Order: sequence, then structure tokens, then C-alpha cells
Amino acid sequence: MPGMSDTHPGSASRVGHTHDGNDRATVEGDIVTAPTIDQGRAPDASLPSAYFEDVYAARADPWDFETSAYEDAKYEATLAALPRARYARGLEIGCSIGVLTARLAGRCDELLGIDMVDAPLARARDRCRDRPHVHFERMTVPEEFPVGTFDLIVVSEVGYYWSVADLERAQRRISDGLAPHGHLLLVHWTPFVPDYPLTGDDVHDAFLTGAVDDVYHRGGRRAACYRLDLFERA
Ligand SMILES: C[S@@+](CC[C@H](N)C(=O)[O-])C[C@H]1O[C@@H](n2cnc3c(N)ncnc32)[C@H](O)[C@@H]1O
Repeated sequence: MPGMSDTHPGSASRVGHTHDGNDRATVEGDIVTAPTIDQGRAPDASLPSAYFEDVYAARADPWDFETSAYEDAKYEATLAALPRARYARGLEIGCSIGVLTARLAGRCDELLGIDMVDAPLARARDRCRDRPHVHFERMTVPEEFPVGTFDLIVVSEVGYYWSVADLERAQRRISDGLAPHGHLLLVHWTPFVPDYPLTGDDVHDAFLTGAVDDVYHRGGRRAACYRLDLFERA
């Protein structure tokens, strides 16, 4: 995601890697091909809350969610990808400072934003203080997950922080948390980021392989640097 290379300890998000047999990193404009998970990385541990606490200590809005034209356009595409005008109960996993949450609030009768770090949650609560139907909780997915079911679950720019095992656990928890005919929307930056256990493509491909029963792909699109896929629970 743009801006992260300036702020993430040890990361270089603008550097993409095309695996062409030589482990050579290439960037062609904004179009970057990410490697697959078996290409030399060790995606066996999710990024811990301490990683994000450091990121937020350095900058309150580490990814420029509030000001980036790229994020603004992506949020527009995210909202446009939702097939229903309204959802009864929405969940955003990894809501950060609540910029996307505030936009989703206009489409949900109730909306829960969860994040594993307190500092962004405080900003998210403040941003949505005039929206009483929006709530926030500190939770670490997949170890924790909200009770009940949701007819909308949004996983935007968070899945690549999971290990392979945690992604599988998260898939099961998300599937269990989706109401019948509920929608799951995935949106992720696709270029390789050295710090991250997985790429956006790994995350979307894991859902697309049908590893989770009863959650079906309804459609998707790939932009230059992100990917968006919509799923529906049977
Ligand atoms: C890049 S931000 C995404 C913000 C928002 N979803 C968006 O698209 O604008 C990722 C957030 O996910 C949170 N996060 C990372 N791993 C998490 C986990 N396992 N459980 C809950 N939150 C997590 C981080 O603290 C961070 O605030």
C-alpha cells in the first residue's frame, strides 16, 4: 500500500517481486506481480500486535487512509462492489482508524469494527462518535471473533498479516460468522511486502480454492495494485 515503505519498520511496500526463476525483483510502473507463498518466504507466523503498535506509534495514520487519493478511489470501489444497498449487521476486520468503517456505516444498520491495537481504535471511535450504530472492539482474529452472525464481513488490507495456519483458521471463523446469503468482501494490496507473511493474492486465492464450505465466489476485479473479490454464503 502506498506510503508504507516510509513508515513500516523494515518494509518496502513499493518494491514488487516478480518470480521469474532468478528471484529478481522487478517493478514496472504500478503493475507488479507478487510471488506465491512457496517462493522462499516463511509465512508461518502472523504479525503480532507489537508490530502494529510500533507502526501506529510512528504515525497515527500510517497508510494515509485519511488523505490518499489511491485509498479514496479504492474505498469507492469497495463500496461499489457491495451488491446490496443495505446490510443489517456488518463487520470490518482490522478497521484501523476507521476511515473505511465510516464509509461502510452508511450501508449498515449496525456495524462492528475490530482491530488488535488500541491506538487506532481510539481514533476510529472518535471518527464515528456521531454514528451510534457503529461500535468498535479490540480483538485479534482468528484467536478471537465476535459472537453472532453478520450479513456483511469486510476483510480489507488485513489478510496478508496472517500466517497460513491463521488464514485457514480465520477463513473458518469468517465462514461461521457469515449469515446465510451474507457477503464477504476481500480487498488487498497485491505487490509483495517483505514484512508480511502472505501476499494479497495468497489471501484471495485461499478463499477462491473453495477451502471454506458454503462460501461461493460471486465476482472480482484486479486493479493495478490491489484485488477485490466478493463471496456469498450459501
Ligand atoms: C492496513 S490496516 C487496514 C485498515 C482498513 N481495513 C482499511 O482497509 O482501510 C490493517 C489493520 O489490521 C490490524 N490487524 C492486523 N492483524 C490483525 C489481526 N490478526 N486481528 C485484528 N486486527 C489486525 C492492524 O492493527 C491494522 O490496524
